[in-house]
Amino acid sequence: MFKEYKILINETLKKYFDEYKQNSSYSSKIWDSMAYTTLLDGKRLRAVMCLEIARLLGGKTSYALPLACSLEMMHAYSLIHDDLPSMDNDDLRRGKPTNHKVYGEAIAILAGDSLISFGSQIIIDKLKDLVEPKKLLDIVNDYNKTAGALGIVAGQVADIEAEGKEIDIENLKYIHKYKTGALFKCSMLMGAKIANATADIVEKIGEYADNFGVLFQVYDDIIDYTLTTDELGKTAGKDKLNKKLTYVSAWGLEKAKNIFYSLIDKNRAILTELNIKSKVFDDIYDMLIKKVEK
Ligand code: IPE
Ligand code: IPE
Ligand code: MG
Ligand code: MG
Ligand code: MG
Repeated sequence: MFKEYKILINETLKKYFDEYKQNSSYSSKIWDSMAYTTLLDGKRLRAVMCLEIARLLGGKTSYALPLACSLEMMHAYSLIHDDLPSMDNDDLRRGKPTNHKVYGEAIAILAGDSLISFGSQIIIDKLKDLVEPKKLLDIVNDYNKTAGALGIVAGQVADIEAEGKEIDIENLKYIHKYKTGALFKCSMLMGAKIANATADIVEKIGEYADNFGVLFQVYDDIIDYTLTTDELGKTAGKDKLNKKLTYVSAWGLEKAKNIFYSLIDKNRAILTELNIKSKVFDDIYDMLIKKVEK
């Protein structure tokens, strides 16, 4: 199921890029740069989760699919900008040279910018005749809010400003909630909303997504410390090098792992409470645990 979702997402992303690139009157370089990072082999977790939450709550996959793709575009924007020399200064992403290494810094910045607006354009273009305007506005609003200074950007600013500073746990929580949690929350809320879930369910899914966002960034902090560059597809040990405030730097490896596991337990309990069984989410947790235990 996870595999089938991934294939569907990859094919649809490619289709969207081909379709819109054709309408562009200027050089195709910017489209090539946008497509480069987006189409590299990522786990597609945000997109898969949007599709799976929609399916679990009785929504249509065909309606959730443009949303899933828009989330991968926003994710790719955040990765391209995160890797820039002025941010984390990374040369490797998804096992390949980072966007600015291939296209230069200026194009990489512009590719990130245009991926944000492309994602929101896809939501509107593909769903405007299918979804009632008020719901669509709500979803587009979630998308825009998440991409900017009330979402990812807020977390990224805090992340950069915390470099080399004294450990501040409240700040650490803030960083993870926004730089990573905001997009996971957006993914799952979009999935719930497109399935016409009730406000109560949307709230519970929001709580689940909040936990997921944190446990995922804790996982990312752990593997940055424990895995090799080859295993990561991105430069290992980067957080220490950049003096980042992470769960590993603040709490140490063992405590970070305990926090990771306790959040998984919390989320398993939420799904049980909602009477939901999901092989896709089980597989995602297994995949993360396997890497944390490597
Ligand atoms: C990397 O996310 C950025 C973080 C929020 C830690 P992923 O680990 O999901 O990256 P891809 O999409 O699989 O490359
Ligand atoms: C992820 O933080 C946050 C975003 C990309 C928005 P990291 O800086 O830890 O992500 P990686 O490790 O470079 O993927
Ligand atoms: Mg970063
Ligand atoms: Mg980084
Ligand atoms: Mg990281």
